[in-house]
Amino acid sequence: MTLNTFGTREEAIAVLARYFVQTAQDAIREDGFFSVALSGGSSPRALYEMLAGSQFRDKVIWNRICFFFGDERYVPATDATSNYGMAKASLLDPLSIAQEQIFRVDTSLPPEDAADNYQQRLFDFFKTEEPRFDLVLLGLGDNAHTASLFPGTSILQETKPGVSAVWVEAKQTWRISFNAPLINEARHIAFLVFGPEKAAAMQHVFSGDNNANLYPAQLIRKEHTAWFTDEAATALLPAS
Ligand code: 6PG
Repeated sequence: MTLNTFGTREEAIAVLARYFVQTAQDAIREDGFFSVALSGGSSPRALYEMLAGSQFRDKVIWNRICFFFGDERYVPATDATSNYGMAKASLLDPLSIAQEQIFRVDTSLPPEDAADNYQQRLFDFFKTEEPRFDLVLLGLGDNAHTASLFPGTSILQETKPGVSAVWVEAKQTWRISFNAPLINEARHIAFLVFGPEKAAAMQHVFSGDNNANLYPAQLIRKEHTAWFTDEAATALLPAS
């Protein structure tokens, strides 16, 4: 596990953008394509915009990349809170990514069917029931959730790689999410976490008591995981 802490969120995002490009170039060189599960929420938007911007857009063979979503809000794709919608606006459309390279959750189905359908599409794409993404991008909620692995939810108990529907009582909404075993299959996992509002969650994940039911990001395995953070988010961690 590598904890990269920068003075500002902009620096963290720029280094993660370079990491994304390098990981993609390595995978495309070795396997001919790169599979990435994008994270949602607000933090990654600036990363996606940077990747689609003049500094990085010519550094990757974008038509060799398949885009997936580590979790999705159970809303229409056109909804302002859709993770797919955010990635479409900030990354996929600006790079003219073809539809056949984009694997979004079909939220027109009932929640459990949407999860089963997505899981089957992953199994079909990777031709295995243990899909191994080249890269899974993650964020961290201020309650130490990641993807849609929320505290106290049944998805936290799952032991086989898969996708599940998660009822999030606190938000009174459904989510569709990779479970921890699926995330942990990835060759590379990268967290992007910045801002003082994440400091307590970072402390719980890095140095709090071992309680994944309360702090679900603790489920994400340590090796092959790189954190890209700013000083505000790591302010409560012991000085390294
Ligand atoms: C989501 C994300 C979620 C997110 C964290 C952090 O759908 O919301 O997948 O896990 O990464 O909640 O969100 P922010 O980046 O908005 O703080």
